[in-house]
Amino acid sequence: IRIAVLISGNGSNLQAILDACQSGDINGDVALVISNKADVYGLTRASEAGVPSIVVASEQGEAREAYDQRLLAELSQHNIDLVVLAGFMRILSASFVQAFEGKMFNIHPSLLPKYTGLNTHQRALDAGDTEHGCSVHFVTPELDGGPVVLQAKVPVFEGDDADDLAERVHSQEHRIYPLVLKWFAEDRVTMTDGQAIMDGQIL
Ligand code: GRF
Repeated sequence: IRIAVLISGNGSNLQAILDACQSGDINGDVALVISNKADVYGLTRASEAGVPSIVVASEQGEAREAYDQRLLAELSQHNIDLVVLAGFMRILSASFVQAFEGKMFNIHPSLLPKYTGLNTHQRALDAGDTEHGCSVHFVTPELDGGPVVLQAKVPVFEGDDADDLAERVHSQEHRIYPLVLKWFAEDRVTMTDGQAIMDGQIL
């Protein structure tokens, strides 16, 4: 399968996915990296891996729908089968999401349905949670609301700050995101009627 990874920054999840394709763990290729920001380190990672990348920056005053149409045009031009959001810091319109229904994943740094949106690590600390983690989910029009495929938990230790927690969660992200993509490429995980199905079981 031809995978597009959408990023806005460092791209450490992109790196984990590139490595898993390279090693043959994922039966697919990162065919395109799209960033909405120029000069981010993720773009360097793409070029070092020999993967084509483009910057699709939003223009001043551009409507969300218009931007998303430009993204869709790039994805169809590159014959993309699967869209992988990896730190892509834009909300996607419902029509974009529908175009890749069941063919788009996101990773979110919380144990969904807890803490959708931003600042998840600080919010987990503020709530006094003793565990935290990350979730890979199918993307639906509801922000961070699609069905979860896989989560990883990490402990919260006394004295942790948000950076400590982010680092602990990140190392789990790099483990579970490639794993879900491997399953998808093997046709083991699908979204049907808004539910994630794995090996015939509702997750
Ligand atoms: C990750 O924490 C991811 O969960 C969140 O954005 C961050 C991206 O990190 N959605 P990176 O760019 O993959 O290093």
